[in-house]
Amino acid sequence: MTLLKIQGGTQLCGSVEVKGSKNASLAILSGVLLATEPVTVRNLPNVSDIRTKLRLLEQLGCRIFESSESITIDASNLRRAALDDEMVRSIRTSFYLLGPMLARLGSAKIPQPGGCKIGARPVDFHLKGLAALGAQIGLTGGYFDATTTGLTGAEIYLDFPSAGATQHLMTSACMAQGFTVLKNAAMEPEVVALADFLNRIGARVEGAGTSTITIHGVEKLQGGDYSIPADRLQAGTYLLAGAVTKGEVTVEGVLPEHQVPIASKLLEMGADVDLGPDWVRVRGTKYPQAVSIKTMPYPGFPTDIQQPMAAVLATAHGVSTVEETIYESRIGHISELNRMGAKIRLEGRTSVITGVDHLQGCVVEATDLRAGAALVIAGLAAQGETIVRNVHHIDRGYENLEDALRLLGANIERIGVQEWEAANR
Ligand code: EPU
Repeated sequence: MTLLKIQGGTQLCGSVEVKGSKNASLAILSGVLLATEPVTVRNLPNVSDIRTKLRLLEQLGCRIFESSESITIDASNLRRAALDDEMVRSIRTSFYLLGPMLARLGSAKIPQPGGCKIGARPVDFHLKGLAALGAQIGLTGGYFDATTTGLTGAEIYLDFPSAGATQHLMTSACMAQGFTVLKNAAMEPEVVALADFLNRIGARVEGAGTSTITIHGVEKLQGGDYSIPADRLQAGTYLLAGAVTKGEVTVEGVLPEHQVPIASKLLEMGADVDLGPDWVRVRGTKYPQAVSIKTMPYPGFPTDIQQPMAAVLATAHGVSTVEETIYESRIGHISELNRMGAKIRLEGRTSVITGVDHLQGCVVEATDLRAGAALVIAGLAAQGETIVRNVHHIDRGYENLEDALRLLGANIERIGVQEWEAANR
């Protein structure tokens, strides 16, 4: 059990290389089940959600070979097996194993998934889509039990462009007979990455990145080698850390167009933002202005960045609003930011943020991954010392966040809870 100790007030300056996308990796680590030959994946982030997913693959009979450069997964001996309940519950994408298992084995059993506690997060779109592809799925005692006599392509309309349902159904349809059309599909970069990966191992997916995706079923998927693209959410977090400390931060190895929603809000706040071929630089302003934000499916403003953005807006001049339209309760950061002196009140699904002159460091608790990132950002700008507890939430999605921030000049360290408690008795 560790916590993060941050001494705020240092301007962050410098460049940071962004690691591979957690959410693309998690989806791809379901897609690997389709391949009957070894698949090598590079640039996987070393975060706890990925380690959990790899352990689940092992439980299903996959052999995993890790090197410092890459991870090779051999799913040739895939088998139906009881998955560790707690592991399945701890990550949302455990559920995306169901479709590929159906495609390869004709049956699968999996507990209901979990993930960050940010809303109800049902799986009804996934279930409707799998049923359209020819699966029979029942829920008994918290377990989904699914069988099929053979998946067949279908036209599937998603009631909402869900990233997860798009990824799960796209993967499930790769070996279905005939072709599948996903309408109102999510256009997230992580969907595009998954399609690129699936095509690399022999699938025929077209249209990823648009709202209509067509999948021509193939009989068999082979081995391949794929490198995960940079994590746009990690990149966005570092840019906000630069902006909130009024410093100058460059994120490298990214696709700049992924940062446009965040960059345009930073510009509106008065910061300078430059976009290069594979980098984005922010130069914070001393007088940030309030802005209005509404989260939307990609290419709208990402829900994952609204919590860190609220930390930045907490000290902007004027009244900002942040409307969360994707999740009904992605609000765990609000009470903790208010504990640090922010003035945020919730009106329905909108955070109304009245900017204050400064935040003050104190002990705060991360309630989920991005709430944790928000508290770190607040701590970097706050006066005095901030202690962020429940760091395991942050470790789900950011690989050694404190090391990257320290390289940019932040005064941040990870210490054991017991060590900290002993020092503060
Ligand atoms: N939804 C349903 N029914 C479904 C599926 C989704 O009602 O069957 C609803 C959800 O409850 C939510 C909305 O649709 O209100 C959008 O959910 P979506 O399925 O797009 O989200 P997800 O696939 O579960 C992924 C990311 C999230 C990210 C969202 C939105 C992963 C592992 N998770 O979740 O990332 O916020 O897309 O972009 O890819 C994070 O990284 O911190 C994180 C939570």
